[in-house]
Amino acid sequence: MIIKKLRVYLYYLLINIFYNFIKFTIFVLPFIIGSPKKFNSSRLSLLKKMIKKNFKKKINVLEVGTHYGLGSTQTIINNIPKNSSFTCLDMWSHRIITKYDYLLPFLSTIVNTADKKNINIIKSSSRFMPSLKKNSYDLIYIDASHFYDDVSKDIANAKKLAKKNFAIICGDDCELPTSKENYKIAKSLVKNKKDQYKINGKFFHPGVYLAVHDQLKNVVIKNGFWYSVVKN
Ligand SMILES: C[S@@+](CC[C@H](N)C(=O)[O-])C[C@H]1O[C@@H](n2cnc3c(N)ncnc32)[C@H](O)[C@@H]1O
Repeated sequence: MIIKKLRVYLYYLLINIFYNFIKFTIFVLPFIIGSPKKFNSSRLSLLKKMIKKNFKKKINVLEVGTHYGLGSTQTIINNIPKNSSFTCLDMWSHRIITKYDYLLPFLSTIVNTADKKNINIIKSSSRFMPSLKKNSYDLIYIDASHFYDDVSKDIANAKKLAKKNFAIICGDDCELPTSKENYKIAKSLVKNKKDQYKINGKFFHPGVYLAVHDQLKNVVIKNGFWYSVVKN
């Protein structure tokens, strides 16, 4: 009887160790490989190129959707001019081990660059955006929810926050080039309330595609990275 109980306990222990090992591996993975999005590193080099080309003096930047702070966050912080201000907004509600597991990688990004930049951190849903100062941001990077209604609202809010004389609104996950055909595809897929699809083996986010094209003019799309110059 005791041996049977011990065996059950041992199985329980082994399953627990295995479960926690998997969770731990998933947790440390971003430290080893960088942000999961690092795989699409061309997006980050395009973002870097766009920043370097357009912004020579200190700017105000808003990032909506930071995650671990290892992808766009790191690229933005490392490439904006000295003394710029950088605000990152994320609800950071996803968890792998604890609800704070984004904190360490995020802080490593901040600590490494805090000497050069003024960094503000807002832990909130993007619904907080209307509380920020209007007509005050030079660059706004949007990479939070990928659902049409959310992205549309985020871009609509970003347009109000963007400096009126010149600003750039940009983001990720707009995989297909601008065309009437792709717009139709996005429009039909968006009804299904699924945020991403695989088309010919490649990911496609219809909500992002549609919102970007509904909200902005002259959108430039390269390898999923999109941007639009807002000028009045
Ligand atoms: C794709 S990740 C951002 C990746 C990051 N920009 C990078 O390049 O590594 C999306 C992030 O947006 C956040 N998010 C999703 N919906 C949001 C919302 N409605 N408001 C604020 N943050 C949101 C998630 O918590 C997640 O951290």
